Amino acid sequence: MAKNTESHQEETRVFKPSKEIAREAEVKSFAEYKKLHAKSLKNPEKFWAREASNLVWSKKWKKVLNWKLPYAEWFVGGQLNASENCLDRHLDGPRRNKAAIIWEGEPGDKMTLTYQQLHREVCVFANILKRNGVKKGDRVLIYMPLIPEAVIAMLGCARIGAVHTVVFGGFSSDSIKDRLADSGAKIVVTADAGYRRGQIVTIKQNVDHALAGSTEVKRVIVAKRTDIEVNIQEDRDVWWHQEAQYVSADCPAVPVDSEHPLFILYTSGSTGKPKGILHTTGGYMVGTAATSRYIFDFKENDIYWCTADVGWITGHSYLVYGPLANGTTCMLYEGAPNWPEPDRFWKIIAEQRVTILYTAPTAIRAFMKWGDDWPKKHDLSSLRLLGSVGEPINPEAWMWYHKMIGAGRCPIMDTWWQTETGAILISPLPGATPLKPGTATLPFFGVDAAIVDDKGKELPHGESGKLVIRKPWPSMLRTIYGDKARYIKTYWSEVKGCYFTGDGARRDKDGYFWIVGRIDDVLNVAGHRLGTAEVESAIVGHDSAAEAAVVGRPDEIKGQGVVAFVVLKEGHAASKELAEKIRSHVAKAIGPIAKPDEIRFAEALPKTRSGKIMRRLLKQIAAGVQITGDTTTLEDLSVLTRLSKNGE
Ligand code: WT7
Repeated sequence: MAKNTESHQEETRVFKPSKEIAREAEVKSFAEYKKLHAKSLKNPEKFWAREASNLVWSKKWKKVLNWKLPYAEWFVGGQLNASENCLDRHLDGPRRNKAAIIWEGEPGDKMTLTYQQLHREVCVFANILKRNGVKKGDRVLIYMPLIPEAVIAMLGCARIGAVHTVVFGGFSSDSIKDRLADSGAKIVVTADAGYRRGQIVTIKQNVDHALAGSTEVKRVIVAKRTDIEVNIQEDRDVWWHQEAQYVSADCPAVPVDSEHPLFILYTSGSTGKPKGILHTTGGYMVGTAATSRYIFDFKENDIYWCTADVGWITGHSYLVYGPLANGTTCMLYEGAPNWPEPDRFWKIIAEQRVTILYTAPTAIRAFMKWGDDWPKKHDLSSLRLLGSVGEPINPEAWMWYHKMIGAGRCPIMDTWWQTETGAILISPLPGATPLKPGTATLPFFGVDAAIVDDKGKELPHGESGKLVIRKPWPSMLRTIYGDKARYIKTYWSEVKGCYFTGDGARRDKDGYFWIVGRIDDVLNVAGHRLGTAEVESAIVGHDSAAEAAVVGRPDEIKGQGVVAFVVLKEGHAASKELAEKIRSHVAKAIGPIAKPDEIRFAEALPKTRSGKIMRRLLKQIAAGVQITGDTTTLEDLSVLTRLSKNGE
């Protein structure tokens, strides 16, 4: 996103926190933030221990941190339960009858669950899991549309110490299959179907395909969302609502060790198959609960809406665990932002009086494109705080969000973090940090972020380098499930002694962090991570393709689009139809979000003498910019000219 990087450099507008927000906020001034941050870096354990004491522990920890690089254990010896912290603890006071979830389905159906009701549903479901043989430590794969049952299923697992692995409902059968195999889950929780853009999404059918021929999965629990008929395989599939009749609503939360796994979430890396990012209970809960409270500034009567799906880390940390641990009312919406019309979000905000909106730059840019008339039609005066996550927000989109949605009144929390970090690490605080459009500003308490060069030396402000985190934090990933070596290699080998984020960034004169984007072979398409290797392997899975190289190119709405250079096998001719076939093949293999925007057939791929694909060149070709830089190691220069011509 070269354009954005440039506009970043010119950005000089500053938006100070308003007096009203500062007065009520946890941290009330920039000076206070700076003081607290400096103090927290001197003794992060002290800061995190204080935050941890806001949670309910069955047994207090003996030691805050055990750090043997690259392995951290937080709140060692402590015991707690994540679902108890999200539910039971709120039942003794007035929050008992407060809405925990206000859900709206895409067709317009609605449901509200109070904390008491959600607690009951979670207990019932936890008992259903037990009845179906699930034990503490077992992995449970959840593949669902965004319905309350998805949240209930996650919390139900947590309640009995089972480890959930949620797979985004937009992913393909093959993706489910891979994740089942990797996680060793023997039970799947799903739904008959969901709604997206007015269409029925056949969720259960995808599960059936994934399980065809498998004997590993013993049970599929199916929530009923629609009236469509689905295949129910006897001895394997059971309906959630029927199972509910056989169990009680009494299910005490099982205290687990602080380091007991809470979930595995798969995310794309620069090589090979997606990585199973493992998060554990205590540190993750402390990290998500604390960051949500400080950054979203929850007040008792807030209605908070995070528009992410539970299939992503944002859905885990800021739709389920963080806000519920704080007793917040969460809005949940199943469908597309432009269904039936491009004002669906604004309609929901006006109707439900949403006060906090947390969404992604890609959505904001789409709204910008659809025009100002849509938000203008609705009363958005209930909003008091906005959030952004997933990719750098370009200043143009930031300004639009600020003016058009926030009426110039709502601060925007541009939050930088990752599936691996579990919780937000770089973000403004609403009552403290002066904002500049396009930057996630400064690190959260206890977070030691830095920009370093290839040797790991910290760079002066103004220079671009690698974004690293130099101290462990509670919600950090503990490992890649089943692949320690990859864990060490990906995160702890690039820069000695530091966690490497994979992002490039720089700090401005005020020390603010400007994230430029991934510097590894990972794309960020509409805020979703996509490994180029993953897409390439899907492409060569098609009969016609011999070789493929996938790169990103700037995209006005999605941030990055996917361009695939494909070399065909002998006997296959390039054609529009074939390109379409390959695109659909990728959608089927991974999911529609991975579908290349463009296929470019090539006679060969540009490679270095050692055989490495020259991605930098391909990126320039894909973006249509003049090829610059060093091409001296290119094996066959004529390849380059042929590729460029293809793109004309
Ligand atoms: C990557 C992580 C964290 C939840 C959603 C994505 C990019 C994320 C920002 C931001 C600039 C951002 C980074 C990061 N990213 N938030 N506010 N500004 N870039 O989670 O799929 O794990 O992706 O998203 O490149 O490394 P993810």
